[in-house]
Amino acid sequence: MNDTFLKACRGEKTDYTPVWFMRQAGRYLPEYQKVRSKVDFLTLCKTPELAAEVTIQPVDILGVDAAILFSDILIPLEAMGMKLEFSESKGPVLYNPIRDDAAVSRLKKIKPEEDVPFVMDTIKILRKELEKKVPLIGFSGAPFTLATYMIEGGSSKNFLNTKKMMFQSPELYGKLMKKIVNTVISYLSSQIAAGAQAVQIFDSWAGILAPDDYKEFELPYVKKIVSSLKKQHPETPVIYFANNCAGIIKDVKKSGADVVGVDWRIDIADAIKRLGKKAAVQGNLDPCALFSSGEELEKKIQDILIKAENAKGHIFNLGHGILPETPVKNAIAAVEAVHKYSKRG
Ligand code: CP3
Repeated sequence: MNDTFLKACRGEKTDYTPVWFMRQAGRYLPEYQKVRSKVDFLTLCKTPELAAEVTIQPVDILGVDAAILFSDILIPLEAMGMKLEFSESKGPVLYNPIRDDAAVSRLKKIKPEEDVPFVMDTIKILRKELEKKVPLIGFSGAPFTLATYMIEGGSSKNFLNTKKMMFQSPELYGKLMKKIVNTVISYLSSQIAAGAQAVQIFDSWAGILAPDDYKEFELPYVKKIVSSLKKQHPETPVIYFANNCAGIIKDVKKSGADVVGVDWRIDIADAIKRLGKKAAVQGNLDPCALFSSGEELEKKIQDILIKAENAKGHIFNLGHGILPETPVKNAIAAVEAVHKYSKRG
């Protein structure tokens, strides 16, 4: 197996910089669309053979150095008792958003092996099929990001309901966050037990918090998750991706994660300077850069590789998920360029 990705996570020397893309399995691939045309998104997530198939597609088509489980961060919320739907027009919808103490009290403690068996089955299939290929990354949403979907009932513009609960009912918010933390710990721990070789915590909305609020209302919960996982599975790298992290990176660094994923709005040299030797770094090409090709694209990739030379470890990635309109040939060229320009002799 190509273990370049795992080595970079641990800060060990590698022959070249490993690369994968957030949301690398998805609609920009005609091969994904073909599978997806036959089933809706949730059915795809819940059918292990199909979920495994689309997980492997980008490994074979792009040549990336890691696979990421095909699922969604909102899946465990169903197990907690919320009704989830993905609508073509509105994106994810969670019915009866969590707004009061009764709603928080009703949320169930999850047993991943019983409540989301399809996730564990997908991982088991994948470990067999990826045996001679690349490592498998499991994932979860971060507590604050999951809370926003639970409280807003879906995607949101200004997260007013979430911030109202946070500021006006901090005890209720804390009670909800404790329940989410327990879910995330047992969910990721079960993924590791089933075969995930690294895990990523997606904090897509961390950057919409004022820095002091991030410190008070999200960081302690992320820390709890990371420390609990490191205690149970000391060998498994934990990646923490905090989107829009420029204003909060000094606190993101305190999460305890082995790898910090950064978006493109921060200069990666800056991020590395602030992380020091505490964590490896993952990122951070603007997803829109994949609409460039040739020298233009290669130059952007080389710039990031040069800036990241002195990092504790560097895993090349986009600064956020790959866009559905991305030309596949540019994504392939980007992977080739990362491998070519980072080759160490
Ligand atoms: O990275 C991968 O390839 C693995 C699969 C993966 C998906 N979602 C598949 C997906 C992962 C890791 C996610 C994480 C996820 N899901 C996040 C965190 C990362 C981020 O982008 O910030 C969030 C916020 C979600 C919630 C979510 N899922 C939204 C808001 C949407 C609708 C928007 C959209 O892109 O359609 C989804 C749907 C979704 N998740 C799709 C895929 C491939 C598209 C579904 C389809 O096929 O129609």
